[in-house]
Amino acid sequence: MDKYLIKGGTRLEGKVRVSGAKNAALPILAATLMTGDECVVEGVPDLKDIHTMVQLLRNLGVEVTCEGTSVRTRVVNEDLCEAPYKLMKTMRAGFCVLGPLLGKRKRARVSLPGGCSIGPRPVELHLKGLQALGADIPVCEGGYVESEVERLRGTEMYLGGPYGSTVLGTANVLMAAVLAEGGTVIEGAAIEPEIQDLCRFLVCMGARIHGIGTHRLEVDGVGSLHGTRYRIIPDRIEAGTFMVAGAITRGEVEVDNVYTDHLLSVMDTLRNLGVTVEKTQSGMGCKISVDQELRPQDIYTLPYPGVPTDMQAQIMAFLCTVPGASVVHEKVFPDRFIHVAELNRMGARISQEGAGALIHGGRPLSAAPVQASDLRAGAALVLAGMAASGTTELDRIYHLDRGYSRFEEKLNSLGAGIERVKA
Ligand code: EPZ
Repeated sequence: MDKYLIKGGTRLEGKVRVSGAKNAALPILAATLMTGDECVVEGVPDLKDIHTMVQLLRNLGVEVTCEGTSVRTRVVNEDLCEAPYKLMKTMRAGFCVLGPLLGKRKRARVSLPGGCSIGPRPVELHLKGLQALGADIPVCEGGYVESEVERLRGTEMYLGGPYGSTVLGTANVLMAAVLAEGGTVIEGAAIEPEIQDLCRFLVCMGARIHGIGTHRLEVDGVGSLHGTRYRIIPDRIEAGTFMVAGAITRGEVEVDNVYTDHLLSVMDTLRNLGVTVEKTQSGMGCKISVDQELRPQDIYTLPYPGVPTDMQAQIMAFLCTVPGASVVHEKVFPDRFIHVAELNRMGARISQEGAGALIHGGRPLSAAPVQASDLRAGAALVLAGMAASGTTELDRIYHLDRGYSRFEEKLNSLGAGIERVKA
């Protein structure tokens, strides 16, 4: 197992290019199961979750070739319908092969994803939507969802849940609905940019979807889909992570190749904290710098367009360096706070209660051995390590490898001192 040695006290400076969006690429790759034609997906980031999805597609009879950031797919065997636990346990997004399999092959056996360190990860909304389309999904047995359908039929449904819309649930049900007979209305659909990207990919394959980017998706089912070539959107969370990296090191960082429209809530949060954020002229990036006094803030994570839960840990690390009391309210995954204890081990003073955390910022951070509990918690600890005194040892960085492409290489190109060593 590798770990990072993170040299503290570095100031980041320079320009960094953002890769394609992991959370758009994963469901889009799953959608390639729905045609017999060749698909070419461009701008796919090179990271572990993508490798796992490629492995899963191969298990499901898809011939996959990866060349640089392009992934070429063609289904060669439609008889294979099982998504096994060994692949699903490391990557929950694998569950969104269920909708495409039921839509196209009318048969699926997909392992239920387990919970994870960001809290329980239920899938009942995925199943509710697929059942509404006519899939008979009996009580799950042996940790698998198994279903066979004669045909799926369009219908109206409400897919909102206790924490708002579901991103992968919307993806799963939408993909099944695209090949169902007749029309489907998904009310309470997720509107994250990654879902909009999936919609656009499906439209390029011949799907008929109206209301893209709204909470009400209307789908006219089609008999079949065809191949396409498509470039996925840049990763707004990777971009946001680099913006916070610039801010926490009091540096000057230009984040290139991202739709700033996808990051308005993050830019607003940073500006409210006193960070200078300017869009670059190309319209595809922003520059951040810290040249005035910072002030604490209360922050609420929410589904899009709110502050993303996937930025909560990184922003919390930054708040530790901002003098005064800030509060983070986690409204999407109320248990997503394992990084609190690790940040406190580095000298932060954070108390967590329920789905909120009170941060007494401005105390100096100092190096300590810490470990990543999930992808974004790991990113937060890297950021904290760069702002701390001494050299922080970060263990379990396989979480970072799952979701960031060449993370330490990109940060080091900005002046960070991060070394990957064997644990
Ligand atoms: C996606 O997970 C992302 N993953 C997550 O990113 C992200 O944190 C999350 O959306 C929220 O934005 C991918 O896209 C691969 P949800 P997903 O279903 O779809 C509850 C990262 O770090 N819920 O939108 O699994 C759920 O418990 C990852 O890149 C139900 O109640 O999340 C949560 O409270 C981590 N019932 C809320 O909805 C359900 O059936 C939102 O979850 C499904 C979800």
